[in-house]
Amino acid sequence: MTFRPIRKAVFPVAGLGTRFLPATKVMPKEMLTLLDRPLIQHAIEEAKDAGIEEFILVISRGKEILVDHFNSAPELEDILQSRGKKDALAKVSESTLDDGTLQTALQTEALGLGHAVWCARSLVGDEPFAVLLPDDVIQNPKGCLSQMVETYNQYGGNVIAVENVPRELVSNYGIIEGENDNGQTIDIRGLVEKPAVETSPSTLAIIGRYILQPEIFGELARKEKGLGGEIQLTDAMARLLKNQKFTGLRFAGTRYDCGNKLGFIAANVAYALQDTDIKDSLRPLVQKLIGS
Ligand code: G1P
Repeated sequence: MTFRPIRKAVFPVAGLGTRFLPATKVMPKEMLTLLDRPLIQHAIEEAKDAGIEEFILVISRGKEILVDHFNSAPELEDILQSRGKKDALAKVSESTLDDGTLQTALQTEALGLGHAVWCARSLVGDEPFAVLLPDDVIQNPKGCLSQMVETYNQYGGNVIAVENVPRELVSNYGIIEGENDNGQTIDIRGLVEKPAVETSPSTLAIIGRYILQPEIFGELARKEKGLGGEIQLTDAMARLLKNQKFTGLRFAGTRYDCGNKLGFIAANVAYALQDTDIKDSLRPLVQKLIGS
């Protein structure tokens, strides 16, 4: 059986990034760099590798620089060209998206992740699509979304990336309840946003990668407020679960939560330790720092 291809991806990037103030006072948190690329570029590249053709950024006031980052930079490119800086030139052109493939949807009020996704409804239209939260970075040779697309091509329906988390951390995540766990995929039977430790159905947390059917927009349109008075994507998925299949995928790779300082620094060290240019010099430096 073949399922409709996943061609579009939504990137909710309207958040304030308060955990990184003052760095994010004027600069969006998605422009913070992980090694040599901003977080948003990591997410876009993961999506591209998974076959995504259209990229939809859900932005708020002051986030236009996220669009500029993917525009061409002719003056800079001319200078690099005339100076023979081929590698730098390649890096600049790699970060330019093809004409007509990047679109934006405005989210004028911070009403929650579900609302952010709903803001992209007319750009997505009536087809299945991906959602990537750039804060969640997954380091793996095969990208997390590529793995999810494979799962989707097998099962259809909706696919959510999941990971086991320590029980004391369940209240930071959407948590799934599932069955038929074969160690890689799980049939999802329930979803709950940030449950208390005592009532959590499991320790399998939703990580910021989703493949969703367009019917999710009908659920989001109800604008029902959930935890924290926000329109939660998890709640809309929980309702859609009554009519549609949801599969959880335990993806391969290490996930870093770049939405907080510790996860962001850890991700930078992990990526730097794989970078051919600096890894050999960084290793002794890190060891020295730890030693002292
Ligand atoms: C959001 C979702 C949550 C999910 C998490 C993954 O929460 O609401 O279900 O587990 O992303 O990063 P947030 O981190 O925005 O509070």
